[in-house]
Amino acid sequence: MSGHEAQDIVIRAAVVTVSDKGHAGTREDASGPTLRDLLLALGAEVSEPVIVPDEQSVIEETLRALADSGDIDLVLTTGGTGLAPRDRTPEATAAVIDRAAPGFGEAMRAASLAVTPHAILSRAIAGVRGRTLIINMPGSPKACREHFAVVAPGLAHAVQTLTGRAHECASPPAGG
Ligand code: MTE
Repeated sequence: MSGHEAQDIVIRAAVVTVSDKGHAGTREDASGPTLRDLLLALGAEVSEPVIVPDEQSVIEETLRALADSGDIDLVLTTGGTGLAPRDRTPEATAAVIDRAAPGFGEAMRAASLAVTPHAILSRAIAGVRGRTLIINMPGSPKACREHFAVVAPGLAHAVQTLTGRAHECASPPAGG
């Protein structure tokens, strides 16, 4: 094993809440702070919260700005993944990524189906723009916790690989 262990990586993360009501201030954003707390507990650095409306162009612009800043390894979005008429987060994500990372959506949906049959409604995707990994999650704190639990064990190695700091494929964490 090289001296660059996945657990040594400090993930520089951002959380983007996608919600018309959250953006308008008519509903308190609970899922953004939930993801922020989960990331901090994982040892990540988390930048200032961002709340955008369910407007595809605004979501795209926000994701591009974060990824292209060079300061963010990981963007977690929350909200706008379902079938409601204005849900466009997966489309915005698909428009900005260079490469899809379908394993995240597959794993999150598979694990979530064991929790709720409504998991099938989330169209969450993930992918890479430059050296930034973007992962969609649904818009409730409960769903965020359940999704985060699925991806958390792989995040450090994902970021390590993406940023070119990985020299070999690390073993998964013990018990993982
Ligand atoms: N996945 C998990 N693990 N837990 C949940 O509570 N909620 C589902 C689904 N995925 C849920 C879940 C529901 S009810 C919806 S409508 C979709 O995520 C999409 O949510 P969104 O539109 O807030 O993104």
